[in-house]
Amino acid sequence: MKRRKFLKSLLALLGSTTLVSFAYPLVRFIAPPSRKAEVKRLSLQKNEIPAGEAREIVLNNTPAIIINRPGKGYIALSRVCTHLGCLVGYNKAKGNLICPCHAGIFNLDGKVLSGPPPKPLTEYPLRVEGETIIIG
Ligand code: FES
Repeated sequence: MKRRKFLKSLLALLGSTTLVSFAYPLVRFIAPPSRKAEVKRLSLQKNEIPAGEAREIVLNNTPAIIINRPGKGYIALSRVCTHLGCLVGYNKAKGNLICPCHAGIFNLDGKVLSGPPPKPLTEYPLRVEGETIIIG
């Protein structure tokens, strides 16, 4: 009798763990983060990011990146992929952002070019005042 009760408890525990391990990625997929995010201000000097270069930063505990797009200016994007949350990386040679987990590719405006991500990367408000870039 005790053995049967123990096995039932063990099965219930394993079933719960399995359910959570499938449900969590599904919930993340269905409800990705919003496109615009609130952010505290952060400032950098323009000469810290020459044309074609990018700089990884952290905004409100979220990994982000500022890119100086040739001919288009600066943009601040979250690095958190809208698929399952891996961190995208800047590919200077190809002029895009690549997610290492499932090969999602975003353009430098944060829009999805290919792969499974359902939405664009979150864009943070950014403005340039003189020689200073202000995010937030
Ligand atoms: S987590 Fe980025 S493509 Fe899957």
